[in-house]
Amino acid sequence: MCGIIGYTGNEAAAPLVFEALTKLEYRGYDSAGIACISEKGLEIKKEVGLLSDVDAKCNFSLLNGHVGIGHVRWATHGKVNAVNAHPHVDCKGKIAVVHNGIIENYQELMGRFKGKHKFLSETDTEILPHLIEDFMAKGKSLEEAVIETTRLIHGSYAFLAISSDCPEKIVGARKDSPLLVGLGESGSFATSDPGAFPAGTNRQAFVEDGEVFVMTPENICFFNPEGNLLQKEFSVFKGVPASAGKGEYDYFMLKEIAEQPDTLRCSIEQEKNFFTELAMDILRAKQVVITACGTSRYAALVGRYLFSRVAKKFCDVIMSSEFQYFSDSIDAATLVIAVSQSGETADVMEGVKRAKEKGAMTLSIVNRPDSLLTRISDKVIHINCGPEISVAATKSFTNQLAIFYLLAYSMVNQFDLAVKKINDISHNMSYSMNGTGEYIQQIAELLKDENDFYYIARGINYAIASEGALKLKEVSYIHAEGMPAGELKHGTLALIDKGVPVVAICPNDYTFDEMLNNMAEAKARGGLIIGVSDRYDPIYDHWIKINEVEEIFYPLVTIVPLQQLAYHLARSRGKNPDKPRNLAKSVTVK
Ligand code: F6R
Repeated sequence: MCGIIGYTGNEAAAPLVFEALTKLEYRGYDSAGIACISEKGLEIKKEVGLLSDVDAKCNFSLLNGHVGIGHVRWATHGKVNAVNAHPHVDCKGKIAVVHNGIIENYQELMGRFKGKHKFLSETDTEILPHLIEDFMAKGKSLEEAVIETTRLIHGSYAFLAISSDCPEKIVGARKDSPLLVGLGESGSFATSDPGAFPAGTNRQAFVEDGEVFVMTPENICFFNPEGNLLQKEFSVFKGVPASAGKGEYDYFMLKEIAEQPDTLRCSIEQEKNFFTELAMDILRAKQVVITACGTSRYAALVGRYLFSRVAKKFCDVIMSSEFQYFSDSIDAATLVIAVSQSGETADVMEGVKRAKEKGAMTLSIVNRPDSLLTRISDKVIHINCGPEISVAATKSFTNQLAIFYLLAYSMVNQFDLAVKKINDISHNMSYSMNGTGEYIQQIAELLKDENDFYYIARGINYAIASEGALKLKEVSYIHAEGMPAGELKHGTLALIDKGVPVVAICPNDYTFDEMLNNMAEAKARGGLIIGVSDRYDPIYDHWIKINEVEEIFYPLVTIVPLQQLAYHLARSRGKNPDKPRNLAKSVTVK
């Protein structure tokens, strides 16, 4: 959520900063901006829109200078407009700041400056350059001013500050939002995501909570909150898996859906001994709680069924944003499993921190290597699906499911069997993708003007109904609800009217017969039934055929047509499924 980048070195800053922003755009894409310092002083260009549109309007390459900071925004405080876009400046236009996070006490701090400082935007961020300005006016250096500023602000932040009074220097600070620095041949970089470092940024270091750093072209030094110099180890940069382009696909979402048979096979590249050890941890724990948000939470719900059905171990799933309200019952005998693609979702991080405070053991299931979550968890499982670029999660979901199968089967000493079964399923997935794509596209064309969709299922497939509905909402902006089919008659049935699409996930498993009753109830009210099943029934108005698999493995094959349906409905409504409005790939605010 918001991406920041800073560069100081021998090369022109603007092109390097712009290039890095293209890799950070998944973090926010409602507006973008760059500030550089040249002999003329501080210059800023910022505008509303996708990065490429902003560049077309502003022409970032006109910015001169060898020091620059850049930002891609996902609005929290203040409308999406050019004034609220970052960088933000002080009264004299000498200091510029880019920020990811929320300064919670910004209004109180602004109150102190009433009449003394002029604020132009509605953002919380704008307090930062003014605080720095105030401290510098009292004779402090830029780094001293930043350290003083961090003592006053509350909330979460990763920010970078530059001042035309000390060109060449970038000062940064972080608390609860990701920030790393890197040293390369041409100079020094700081960014939210190591994937934004250009090639050759060989040495890197994480900025820890509360630390402040000063970057010059040749050197980066760190200070603790008290202002004392820290000795910091730089590690040799391992590199981040390159995020390949879209290839033959028009959108990353479709490419990532299609990649799933391959990425699923990567999920099973795990150490058997490690999973055996984790299985023991789960079985030994007095209570097991899984916490996650959005799509990752639906994967966790499938995990809950698997633990119960395969290993007879009950566990609960708590939405991370609600986790704090349950923390009274978390203790040292609890195992908390956090599931997160990005490994930096603020709500998940908060939950894991609380669990650790209570002495619970923490296990994370993560996609992004070296993410904040991997660094604070006791144990980590990597889902290995590679970079997921589209904002809507697809391949990370199926790999998270695969990890839950591996864990559940390990709990009954059948890790190898799970590996084999998942490997087999990956081939079934290929079938369902190739076999159904065009048909789903036709259904999408027929239903593109509908306002509401209902997704129903039972048992282990209920989470798939919820995930299917979430995908549809995200990328096509059609209202959708996913629910256990048996729950329909307890209220929602009132909304089923002539022609309302009801997507029924009804594989030929232990849920099929009861699903038929629930479909009949919907059909009797005029509902249009889209059956996702390997078994035909005349009740369907449209039948999306899937491959038959073993009962508890259906989620891995039923989700694929639902992802395709969401994608095609988005496209038939002219939406860009890779960058849905109001959303961002990484949600680093609470
Ligand atoms: C939906 C989606 C979101 C994320 C949620 C959690 O397609 O992507 O619902 O699943 O924001 O994100 P992670 O998994 O990164 O913690």
